[in-house]
Amino acid sequence: MKGILLAGGASSRLYPASKVTSKQLLPVYDKPMIYYPLSTLMLFGIREVLIISTPIDTPNIEMLLGDGSQIGMKISYKIQHVPKGIAEAFTIGADFIGNDEVCLILGDNIFAFAGQEQDFMSAVAKAGNNATVFGYHVHDPERFGVVEFDDTGRVLSIEEKPKEPKSNYAVVGLYFYPGDVVAKASGQKPSARGELEITDLNKTYLAENRLNVVKIRRGAAWLDAGTPDALLESANYVAMMEKRQSLKLACIEEIAYNKGFIDKAQLQKLIDELKDCDYKKYLQFVHNGG
Ligand code: DAU
Repeated sequence: MKGILLAGGASSRLYPASKVTSKQLLPVYDKPMIYYPLSTLMLFGIREVLIISTPIDTPNIEMLLGDGSQIGMKISYKIQHVPKGIAEAFTIGADFIGNDEVCLILGDNIFAFAGQEQDFMSAVAKAGNNATVFGYHVHDPERFGVVEFDDTGRVLSIEEKPKEPKSNYAVVGLYFYPGDVVAKASGQKPSARGELEITDLNKTYLAENRLNVVKIRRGAAWLDAGTPDALLESANYVAMMEKRQSLKLACIEEIAYNKGFIDKAQLQKLIDELKDCDYKKYLQFVHNGG
């Protein structure tokens, strides 16, 4: 399974904060936003990741994360020259994907699944040659892709930002596809607003009866940090959780160590390279056995 982290886009909803820097490099409390989706991929056990961003932002993201080898990952980069839509990730990433299964995560989506990752991976494995997306109960579904279920839980429809949502289930920015996604995305046409919509791609799987929608259980957090209020809410959420438990969310070095992507000596090297800061102290605490 390969991972694509889509971290481009115009980010105009965060202007002027995102005018000269990538939205995905803005801090969410104590670390850059991109650490959160990257950590989600890592928690799914995905180690080979393509990051797609803008011509201006890609070099900065690369400066931050490098080739990923320091955290036992293999990270490569591709540029999206114009934000033509989320589904373009699959044509930009065609060579990277090859015929493999791929997980796409959006760079402004923050997840705290509280241990549901294994269940989700089992659902994806069970889905076989079908696509798997996730529904999360929200109070403002009109901001998102929305999925409608019948009484038995079967998916009836999926719509992008409907004025009159048919349910409260938003489709989150985390999608698993079988290898035929590249061919499907290549044949896709732009929507009325001129974008290659991820929802249109999902509709093609639904039409073939190949769209599996997993409901995320209550208690798990999903935040789309793409607006000023959502960014603040996300930072407050992370700060509250981290202070309460004195454990960090989305600490990529800790996850790499706990998942066995790096050993203790490699973790110590990362700690030694950091300037004095709370993040360094935290990593030392992890190194000392947490
Ligand atoms: O957050 C989940 C929602 O994400 C889904 O419910 C919607 O179905 C999906 O369309 C998307 O809606 P958004 O309005 O939040 O998409 P946005 O344009 O903000 O883009 C999401 C991320 O993808 C953001 O980090 C920027 C990046 N992006 C977006 C586009 C359109 C790119 O890198 N390139 C693009 O061309």
